[in-house]
Amino acid sequence: MAKILHIKASPRAGSLSTLAAEAYLAAHLAKHPGDTVETLDVFAAELPAFDGATLDAKYAVMSGQSHSPEQAAAWGAVVETIEHFKSFDAFVVSAPMWNFGVPYALKHYLDVIAQPGQTFGWTPEKGYFGLVLGKPVTLFSASGGDYRPGSGAEAVDFTTPYLEWIFKFFGFTDIRTVRVAPTAAAPEVVEAAKEAATKEARALAA
Ligand SMILES: Cc1cc2nc3c(=O)[nH]c(=O)nc-3n(C[C@H](O)[C@H](O)[C@H](O)COP(=O)(O)O)c2cc1C
Repeated sequence: MAKILHIKASPRAGSLSTLAAEAYLAAHLAKHPGDTVETLDVFAAELPAFDGATLDAKYAVMSGQSHSPEQAAAWGAVVETIEHFKSFDAFVVSAPMWNFGVPYALKHYLDVIAQPGQTFGWTPEKGYFGLVLGKPVTLFSASGGDYRPGSGAEAVDFTTPYLEWIFKFFGFTDIRTVRVAPTAAAPEVVEAAKEAATKEARALAA
């Protein structure tokens, strides 16, 4: 009876990253009918602004200072977003590549939930360590070009390596990635990319 959070980061109706994630979730739910999925559309979500008092509140936590009333209120909204995130047992992220990285709304969400004492910790002895442990994440990324290993363009893919790293930073060790690529190509090439990603997604769910 796992609770899965699908973090959806493409606002496109015909999104190929969403399509691949949904194929995975459908195959997963067929196998685990008791599990539930909540979708968090980061473009539609009301996320706390990450500036001003919120940013000062983060620095106060990092330097062991107490919060002013304004910072405490701002920090409360951040912690609420993180508690929602941490209430899930497993995660699926679907994201397009936008200008070689992740869409700004997904970065906004990750900036809000990447907080000391919440999703990661730090001590002089241990350095940085993750605080979200024992939970899997499956990442789906779609890109117009082909940046997969062996493509020769791996070095400029700041989408999947970034997502893999930030979840590792949060403490995840079970991280799986499916790429839908290339999507800016001849129709038969796009169709093949979609089919390959769907097959991979279903195999992962199995
Ligand atoms: C704002 C924007 C920026 C993009 N930047 C890139 C890019 O840097 N590299 C690339 O290969 N494709 C780029 N694309 C193409 C998308 O990655 C591609 O259409 C992908 O399939 C979108 O994912 P989705 O179908 O899930 O929305 C961009 C598309 C948009 C809308």
